[in-house]
Amino acid sequence: MMTIQDVKLLDLPKICDSRGNLSFLENNAQIPFEIKRVYWIYDVPGGEDREAHAFRENQELIIALSGAFDILVDDGLSRKKYTLNRSHYGLYIPQGIWRVMDNFSTNALALELASTKYNTADYIIDYEEYRRLREAGEI
Ligand code: TYD
Repeated sequence: MMTIQDVKLLDLPKICDSRGNLSFLENNAQIPFEIKRVYWIYDVPGGEDREAHAFRENQELIIALSGAFDILVDDGLSRKKYTLNRSHYGLYIPQGIWRVMDNFSTNALALELASTKYNTADYIIDYEEYRRLREAGEI
């Protein structure tokens, strides 16, 4: 059973250059899963929350490619807030962890790398249900 101890802020490679910086990652190398899907969140109006849910199976890496936002991770017992505001950091969130993204800056761009294809059955969108599943050891 994953806990928020398994959530990791990864410092990705950063090649500094007077012409501008470059960061990268490769499948299965800097991140502990194979990428099956990529999506991105942008044009978030001030004050909006996104992604209040947990996944049964899907693992993700979230990068603030531009701007800044907060990610609250919660395993039913403890919670921790991360602020992403540098594009060479990625937050790895394993399966089974509740997360909420908020506090998006103007022009924030959140890149999300996912270990599964989109599957509505993988979502747990009700926090009380999430707590019940955690207490029962089912997620
Ligand atoms: P959702 O994951 O519910 O985002 P949030 O929790 O931030 O609201 O996705 C919002 C909508 O986008 C939902 O209708 C499903 C759709 N969607 C896809 O079609 N494919 C995807 O890969 C994702 C992540 C979402």
